[in-house]
Amino acid sequence: MTAIRAALGRCALAVALALPLAATGQSLAPPPAAASDNGLSLRPAMGWSSWSFVRRWPTEAKMKAQADALIASGLHEKGYVYVNLDDFYQKCDANGFVVDQYGRWAVDEAKFPSGIKALADYIHSKGLKFGFYVTPGIAKNAVTRNTPIEGTSYRAKDIADTTRQEKNYNCKNMYYIDYSKPGSQEFVNSWARQFADWGVDYLKIDGVGSHDIPDVRAWDRALRATGRPINYALSNNLAIADAPTWRQLANSWRTQGDVECYCGPGANGSGFPLTNWSKITSRFTSAANWQQYAGPGGWNDLDSLQIGNGDQIGLTSDQRRSHMTLWAMAASPLLIGSDLTQLTATDRAILGNERLIAVNQDGIAARRVVNSGNQQVWLKRQANGDTVIALFNTGTTGNQTVAVTWAQAGISGPARITDLWSGQSTGVVNGSYSVTLRPGETRLIRATPGDGGPAPQRYEAETATYSAGSTVDSNHAGFSGTGFVNTANAVGAYVEWTVSAPSAGDTAVTLRYANGTAAGRPMDIAVNGTVVAAGRAFDSTGTWTGWRDVTLTVPLKAGTNTVRATATTADGAPNLDYLERS
Ligand code: GCU
Repeated sequence: MTAIRAALGRCALAVALALPLAATGQSLAPPPAAASDNGLSLRPAMGWSSWSFVRRWPTEAKMKAQADALIASGLHEKGYVYVNLDDFYQKCDANGFVVDQYGRWAVDEAKFPSGIKALADYIHSKGLKFGFYVTPGIAKNAVTRNTPIEGTSYRAKDIADTTRQEKNYNCKNMYYIDYSKPGSQEFVNSWARQFADWGVDYLKIDGVGSHDIPDVRAWDRALRATGRPINYALSNNLAIADAPTWRQLANSWRTQGDVECYCGPGANGSGFPLTNWSKITSRFTSAANWQQYAGPGGWNDLDSLQIGNGDQIGLTSDQRRSHMTLWAMAASPLLIGSDLTQLTATDRAILGNERLIAVNQDGIAARRVVNSGNQQVWLKRQANGDTVIALFNTGTTGNQTVAVTWAQAGISGPARITDLWSGQSTGVVNGSYSVTLRPGETRLIRATPGDGGPAPQRYEAETATYSAGSTVDSNHAGFSGTGFVNTANAVGAYVEWTVSAPSAGDTAVTLRYANGTAAGRPMDIAVNGTVVAAGRAFDSTGTWTGWRDVTLTVPLKAGTNTVRATATTADGAPNLDYLERS
């Protein structure tokens, strides 16, 4: 259980705070019997990986800067927890990887002068988790030196098959391991033990093909034998014919080659742009083909999220939202590939959208119901009976009107629609739903069966109660009603709404706000005098006219309730427009 709790970590917590219980997937069916039973990754992993942006030049300083940025951006609070060091931390000579006394890859001290353990310690000190990288086989230098296998009387030559070279993208010169030989499992065990001692929480094993199933099995055994929970990820372009094996042995597997375009101006195509739209659209088909294999403990990895540095990443903002939508619908791991030190406000909002994260973390891989030209519709039924539906225009020119019928969605009768990107309720529909989308645009909705009873109730801030020093202003356009409340810039400044509820229960309430400053303006949300969401983030909206919704689920009693939002920093509350009860 400890391992499971560690694996769920903050992300489950963040999602649980943000959403109704059913949407967190807490009532998910148990994992299918064939899933890895290592107890890890009951939800798709979330974090950052060095490959897309840092590429072949990782250093201790760069890794620390990205870990710091994961915290400073607020994305850690949203559940992004892994900081993964990919390839090129190792040292090469003319014969391949330089190895340590036991034949394992030596770390390049020029890049990591304090060593990997120190880096992992730093990452852990921030409340984050550390991911690392390896490929199958044993290095030629280990065999040439015939290094001993730690803790045994065997040596590298006893286990290497020098007639065959493994795939490797860096120093190369990796021989296959002959797993029929004594000492082979012990060699992998010694390597896994080293990683565990260093504090590795996530291991990507790259260059894996179907011929490497013995290695995948050996690493699974070795990681378990360490006793440390290590999320086990396979890469890349795994064969779908062996999907049941990947699922049984690992926590995720890359379904395709790299999402990077390698079309940047730097060495080996590094630098911006990191990707292009066709690299994203090619994932729709693999996500559909692999859909049946995803579930708690094992996920279809569509590769890193190319979201963070605005359009320079190689995608428009519409395309980036579509990219995030597909990864959320497919329940793919969410491993950001961008430079987090240069995150734009738009991308921070995309990556940090809690409704999207919840769609990802519900642990259900959506299925494709429309695939016609540039039109795609995907849907999944959540545990509470809601259907989440994504509609895409994957083209690059021309609007498309994309539709889904309730027959396709398996919905009978009316359903209430919530736009999950904005959080807005958009009314009740019956029979079908359609939307006209710009090229590259997506619409993601939740359809809740029934007409939802009484319409959402809106309570304007200007008619609520507010702390002394607040004013009702109307100088920033876009508000509803006659104005908005501008509280004093002080800790404790608040707005309190009186909210009636037809029945007791967990209820979604939406707060509409604007925060034109760069800093967040967190608030404690209290219901009937009890704080139910402490320090809830109200991030920058860029401008004072940039009104935005934050939706959270609060326990209301039948009848009259108070909902108070209280500033926890000296900046006071953001400008508050209204509260809406669903
Ligand atoms: C500006 C802005 C106000 C806002 C205030 C603040 O003065 O115009 O609407 O309330 O900043 O920082 O809170």
